[in-house]
Amino acid sequence: MTAIRGYVAPTTESDALGVHSLDQFVLSVPDGSVAQVFYGNFGLDVQTTGNVMAIRTFGHDHRWGSVVEGSKQKALHHLSFGCYAEDIGRLKARIEGNGVKLIDPPPGFESNGFWFRNHEGVLIEIKVAPKVSPDQKSQSEWISVGPGKPGAATRVKSPPVRPRRLSHVLLYTRDVDASLEFYERNLGLRLSDRASDLVVFMHGIHGSDHHMLALVKSSAPGFHHCSWDVTSVQDIGLGAMRMADKGWTKGWGLGRHVLGSNYFHYVRDPWGSFSEYSCDIDYIPREERWPAADHNPEDSFYLWGPEVPREFTINYEGGES
Ligand SMILES: [Fe+2]
Repeated sequence: MTAIRGYVAPTTESDALGVHSLDQFVLSVPDGSVAQVFYGNFGLDVQTTGNVMAIRTFGHDHRWGSVVEGSKQKALHHLSFGCYAEDIGRLKARIEGNGVKLIDPPPGFESNGFWFRNHEGVLIEIKVAPKVSPDQKSQSEWISVGPGKPGAATRVKSPPVRPRRLSHVLLYTRDVDASLEFYERNLGLRLSDRASDLVVFMHGIHGSDHHMLALVKSSAPGFHHCSWDVTSVQDIGLGAMRMADKGWTKGWGLGRHVLGSNYFHYVRDPWGSFSEYSCDIDYIPREERWPAADHNPEDSFYLWGPEVPREFTINYEGGES
């Protein structure tokens, strides 16, 4: 670990201003039915109305993601962040004061919020919305039975894997430092940890997972993965197996990250990006300072797991192959 770079501390906690949640991510894809099959198989509650598919988790009303049909290839359409009603005026004034131009919402996404593009063209909305980032660390389970009983059910009898909520998304960016600065200055996100100029992880000031947004260096902006919180390592393994049984065999895992500490398995989606089963990610309570640090990339990408497949870092959205 070395001294951190890119950390902008607020003057006082009472002056701190920022979004509280990643409200939803929106992708555009050529064929919505393919997205419906993939995310449905993943264990999510998907409902299509017209050419827009909503992604929810079973037992939760919130819409964590949307997929719109119509683009020639998969692309990140926009990110939407939620804030408190009493903060939206000050956030809007601050962002405009920073020289960011507000723009009209895209058709079909009108809201109580406001819209702009970041320094490399990524479309962003900030709106008043319920806080859907967790208020405390999500509980995980180690499922064990007593003596005289079998611990594992058969595959057929094992319950379905149902992610509980969206944890975070990771985006590609041309310039990690410029992106860190943009999201700190305008959205009030804070640096949790970083690995050189390759990747940064950012949390919300009102209490969130270790990262609600992460950014990794690439040749162009793009969407790398969405991450879904599950209850147990058992659910990560079973979810990965179920996906493989349905033909979604490519990915990376089982492993454990260092930055965020979560257990993971990534399943490659139909467009070359990923959907992550995640369990036991670190939590940063509101008004608590996380000891953000700059880590050696080789020593901090993952604690254990299989070798990283080459395709894990190919930004197809950016034209890489
Ligand atoms: Fe992740």
